[in-house]
Amino acid sequence: MFNLHGPCIPVSLYPFFDLMKFLIKPTVFILCLLPAAWLCWGVYLAFSGGENLLGPDPAQYLSLQTGEWAIRLLIASLAITPLRYLLNMPSLFRFRRMIGLYAYFYVFLHLIVFLWFLLGWDFSAVGREISERPYITIGFAAFVLLTPLAATSFNAAQRKLGRNWKRLHRLTYACAILACMHVIWIVRSSYFDAVLYGGLTLVFLGYRVLRKYSPAVQKFSLLR
Ligand code: HEM
Repeated sequence: MFNLHGPCIPVSLYPFFDLMKFLIKPTVFILCLLPAAWLCWGVYLAFSGGENLLGPDPAQYLSLQTGEWAIRLLIASLAITPLRYLLNMPSLFRFRRMIGLYAYFYVFLHLIVFLWFLLGWDFSAVGREISERPYITIGFAAFVLLTPLAATSFNAAQRKLGRNWKRLHRLTYACAILACMHVIWIVRSSYFDAVLYGGLTLVFLGYRVLRKYSPAVQKFSLLR
């Protein structure tokens, strides 16, 4: 019988794996939402005079946390293609859109925090910040490039754009590089995050290049 669950899974475990398949997507959805929910709760408490969850500089804390989650999820979305091939798990593709959209959601929150808590909704300062601070110029460019990707991530847009959808969505690679440059530019004391994010981005983009040109890489998989 053709084994839909993969070659090494005994038939008796099928119901368990079906349940896992059913539960795993909502679980990932909730896990991605938790940091935003926690930050919103912190903002609510700060405004209502409750406990301070956001530290001595809440605006900076919110900016750093939303930025960190944005780049983590962007890199996680880049990791899906290499992991899908290396682990021989096509089902991983089911998470790519959700994780990519969450990355955009956190970038959007990051922008809101910047406009609200750092600029106090002073829109006249936005142009000045973008033109005078290179790391903001780069971050803003990444946000602008991510916007059409988020807007066309749905099935209808994918069908309408056909082959161009894939071409358009290669912009993710430029966004990830810009996001890493943005973080490297901000480095104050520790290079850890910058090296980690930059290194992971290089590995995941490098894998795609190698896979395109090397038949050996195309055939290579850690799990059969
Ligand atoms: C809309 C455009 C953007 C603006 C205006 C912006 C602005 C900022 C600012 C002001 C900070 C510094 C916070 C502080 O130290 O007080 C920051 C940090 C950060 N941003 Fe952005 N950003 C933008 C886009 C992005 C994008 C697209 C990403 C990633 C996908 C990102 C990821 C980060 C990260 C990870 C940090 C923390 C860096 C660190 O650890 O020091 N930002 N951003």
